[in-house]
Amino acid sequence: MEDFRARKSRGERITALTAYDYPTARLLDESGIDIILVGDSLGMVVLGYTDTTQVTFEEMLHHTRAAARGVKRALLVGDLSIGTYDTPESAVEHARQLVAAGAQAVKLEGGASHVAQIEAVVRAGIPLMAHIGMLPQSVRAEGGYKVKGRSEAEARSLLADAEAVENAGAFAVVLEIVAAETARQITARIGIPTIGIGSGDGCDGQILVTHDLIGLYPWFTPKFVSPEVHVADEIRRAARIFAERTLSGIR
Ligand code: KIV
Repeated sequence: MEDFRARKSRGERITALTAYDYPTARLLDESGIDIILVGDSLGMVVLGYTDTTQVTFEEMLHHTRAAARGVKRALLVGDLSIGTYDTPESAVEHARQLVAAGAQAVKLEGGASHVAQIEAVVRAGIPLMAHIGMLPQSVRAEGGYKVKGRSEAEARSLLADAEAVENAGAFAVVLEIVAAETARQITARIGIPTIGIGSGDGCDGQILVTHDLIGLYPWFTPKFVSPEVHVADEIRRAARIFAERTLSGIR
């Protein structure tokens, strides 16, 4: 974990992507990605739920085990799904289960409001990545995926969150859909790396949902993502060719 801090101080960027299964985790690991997150975005891009509030912890464990089998080199982070870290005791108990499933670190959503949980998990010897800004587990309460940190008051509150999670012992913090200038200020202010998603290029690293990066969830692509490839189109093309060959009797 100290390596990530050192990399920030050397100005070296950190790369992070999500994986929920063995082949994807192995491919990302072989590609040199630093952090592989078994995110609860699993619920949307793999399990077909409308948001991450429907993901169960059993599903997180199942997919963490699968991804762990594919990772040799990267840091594998498991996401604490909604309802698993309402108290410090619950956070530690569920973090231990993610570690038993193969994660080397865990992530939870929340800033100053979750200092007790972060401290407890770190005290239990489990490295923790925090997540502030837009919090997908609160999307229903918030009424959508909205940019955070545009107003001065919101920027101040996010800065306080970032300092709180650093002081609580987090080794890095995800900044999700935070106004670029606010993300830049937070990055300059704290000693742990900021890993941005939709938060501009002033963060210490970047994370994306792999399905968005490779165009494997074409029904919704966040505004801040430009897919590098369009895997969904390739799957449809291959399936059509297979169907045509089968129907015409050509093997
Ligand atoms: O669940 C997830 O994939 C995440 C990333 C988007 C940061 O939390």
